[in-house]
Amino acid sequence: MNRILIGAQWGDEGKGKIIDVLARKSDIIVRYQGGNNAGHTVKFDDEKFILHLIPSGILHSNKTCVIGNGVVLDPEAFFKEVDVLESRQIRVQGRLLVSEQAHLLFPHHRLMDQMREGALQRKHVIGTTKRGIGPCYADKIARTGIRIVDLKNPGYFKERLKAVLHEKNQVLQKIYGHKGYSFPKVYQEFIKHRKRLLLFAADTPKFLYQASRKKKNILFEGAQGTMLDVDHGTYPFVTSSNATVGGAITGSGVSPTLIDSVIGVVKAYTTRVGEGPLPTQFPPALMKIVQKQGEEFGATTGRPRRCGWFDAVVTRYAARINGLDEMSVMKLDVLSGLKELKIAVAYKIHGKVVEDYPSSTYELQAAKPVYETMKGWNEDLSSVERWKDLPKNARKYLKRLEKLLGVPIKIVSIGSKRAQTIFL
Ligand code: IMP
Repeated sequence: MNRILIGAQWGDEGKGKIIDVLARKSDIIVRYQGGNNAGHTVKFDDEKFILHLIPSGILHSNKTCVIGNGVVLDPEAFFKEVDVLESRQIRVQGRLLVSEQAHLLFPHHRLMDQMREGALQRKHVIGTTKRGIGPCYADKIARTGIRIVDLKNPGYFKERLKAVLHEKNQVLQKIYGHKGYSFPKVYQEFIKHRKRLLLFAADTPKFLYQASRKKKNILFEGAQGTMLDVDHGTYPFVTSSNATVGGAITGSGVSPTLIDSVIGVVKAYTTRVGEGPLPTQFPPALMKIVQKQGEEFGATTGRPRRCGWFDAVVTRYAARINGLDEMSVMKLDVLSGLKELKIAVAYKIHGKVVEDYPSSTYELQAAKPVYETMKGWNEDLSSVERWKDLPKNARKYLKRLEKLLGVPIKIVSIGSKRAQTIFL
């Protein structure tokens, strides 16, 4: 059984926990897009782990993990994560394969990310994680990127880095007034990582193909979310990779014919970190309550996430783009105590009711949600174990979401611990 797990909102849906639940039933767990901009929080044996690049499946000692070709890899961040895990007695080497086709993220990518954001007019700022993700993908598409496989041949790597750095330094000096990078310094830094990195490098598309021929169960764990997808999200307020289902295919080299199901993860409300439209954003007082109750602070940057009502326009769109077979609804417990709950079922844009997600961010910025209101519940959900023990209004709320999206809910999460999960 090969499954793809996708964030169906703006990321931070709580995928880490579901990945952990599904990883138990999988043999191989694959990351296929993004980089260390992601932050998956997992509670494992009462210990908290935040993973950025390495699939959370690594916490299970008998699983193999893969970082696919679609990921951009910052060696410094990667080894920091490996070292933290190994210091906590989680063996990584020998259990994690990194695609030799994955692109390397260099210090100049990080700097360029910061400089670009810093130079933009306020309304154009994206609010990136400043990890260099956008500039690294830009180089990949411009064909000026450097891949892990290039490190196999130091002469070739040297030649390529020299040419690339020459151009980057010109841009840094002439546009941003930065002194640029010394080639020998960057070269030495990467050569220092070379040997260790190559221990992880592999032909991962072939590995995954062979594994699926042997009927191994593969879980593809998405990072970020549908609305941050560079093609289908709220462009330009997006990340630079395909966080939708197609990203799992190109980013791993596995054919779509080998995929059995696509699972969407949504939060019972909506959050967004970084800039860009969020039509259902709460008024400030309610935002404070939900931010606190839901601990809505970014796992990578610590920034507070903006929060809002559940947006069925967004999630219906995500269900369609990703062809979701089933859904997991996270953090239902956070909504306990609210007298009433709203769900956006359409938008009003310049006086017209629109049911489909608009492609134009300009229009989206003008969108006013059309809400349906439902009754809330007061009960604490944290120890509920069965569907039938959920408060009636909570069940009604979930049933309404299911109807609006046309996708069955299979998992409801009511707390960060693994036990706080209701399977349907
Ligand atoms: P970048 O991916 O660092 O370029 O950031 C682009 C946008 O994606 C910003 O709005 C970030 O806040 C957002 N973003 C990137 N990674 C994540 C994530 O893992 N969760 C939520 N938002 C993210």
